[in-house]
Amino acid sequence: MAVRDILKMGDPRLLRMAQPVTQFDSDALHLLVTDLLDTMRSADGAGLAAPQIGVDLQLVIFGSNERNPRYPDAPPAPKKVLINPVITPLRESEEDPTLLEVEDWEGCLSLPGLRGMVPRFSRIRYTGFDQYGDPIERTVEGFHARVVQHECDHLIGRLYPMRVRDFSKFGFTDVLFPNIAAIEDD
Ligand code: NI
Repeated sequence: MAVRDILKMGDPRLLRMAQPVTQFDSDALHLLVTDLLDTMRSADGAGLAAPQIGVDLQLVIFGSNERNPRYPDAPPAPKKVLINPVITPLRESEEDPTLLEVEDWEGCLSLPGLRGMVPRFSRIRYTGFDQYGDPIERTVEGFHARVVQHECDHLIGRLYPMRVRDFSKFGFTDVLFPNIAAIEDD
């Protein structure tokens, strides 16, 4: 169990294509999951990807059993581990072929003190595995869908500023939101 250092933007290790996990239910994998959970908890993160602690593997965690002080409006979701993920954007309905996008503010533990307005698919299905090798398949929307897309972007070397379209909505949290003390310290 250990809180690990979180890499910051500019570190080339954040730009790699992460490697798939091939060995499940191993001591090394369980230790990695524990370290990620400890690190995410200590930083009040909504999620964390293995590349953010310098580990070149397709593994992300997200969720929290309590409300997150950095995202006070987000509903609490149980902690989840997702390995070798595949994300499929979903249409709103059979009749409507549109893939809906929604924009909302995001932050990232690799860019402390910053926020940006990021478009994401509003509904997705994701598949992958947990740390025991058991398959996962979920259809999600809202904040859950946003967090999964943000974390999985870390596995393909994408940081959220690379998704920002309107740079008038990207900046320092304390400048963008001077009256909201609760989200100043990410
Ligand atoms: Ni991030």
